[in-house]
Amino acid sequence: MKSGEKIILAGMAVLVVGLGGYRVITHKPDRGIPYHSTASPELEAQGAALYAKLSCKDCHSLWTERNMLQFVPAPALDGIGSIRSEDWFYHYFSAPNPQAILPSRLKKQYRMPSYAQLPESQRRLLAQYMASLKVDDWYLAQTRKAEYEKLTGKTYHP
Ligand code: HEC
Repeated sequence: MKSGEKIILAGMAVLVVGLGGYRVITHKPDRGIPYHSTASPELEAQGAALYAKLSCKDCHSLWTERNMLQFVPAPALDGIGSIRSEDWFYHYFSAPNPQAILPSRLKKQYRMPSYAQLPESQRRLLAQYMASLKVDDWYLAQTRKAEYEKLTGKTYHP
């Protein structure tokens, strides 16, 4: 190898190591979507199918999906299973008047409908499905804040 080639090789080596080091220093971990599901594949399939059939996304967003023709300021359901329990959901879906549990600030046609007429198995399935929608710890406070503000229309002061 000629000495000129050696210098070029050495230069390239310095560049590669240097760039690598720079990346390590400046790289911030990409935390990605802060939501995850704890549902089994079976619960996921059945829950999502019932959720679609009952048109929940006419009012709610979940995994960024919602019916774009509707503009109901209902709380997003992403991570909702980290805020409330499966029992709570079951109780809420079974209530003849859900607003007795969660007061609404919205006009009647935009409020959470009662699902008390659904068969018990479907209310249980929905409750299990909602309970499986979790938020990562680092995003819990943010999710709580957004939920509170959607429900009340007020700014959240923890
Ligand atoms: C007509 C619009 C509408 C539809 C359809 C609807 N919701 Fe709601 N939902 C709301 C609103 C609005 C609220 C907030 C309380 C209120 O204003 O009545 C709510 C509240 C909730 C909550 C409580 C959220 C919280 O912050 O604790 C859950 C869970 C929920 N809905 C799940 C569902 C599921 C599951 C379906 C489908 C079976 C559904 N909703 C269908 C409008 C709707």
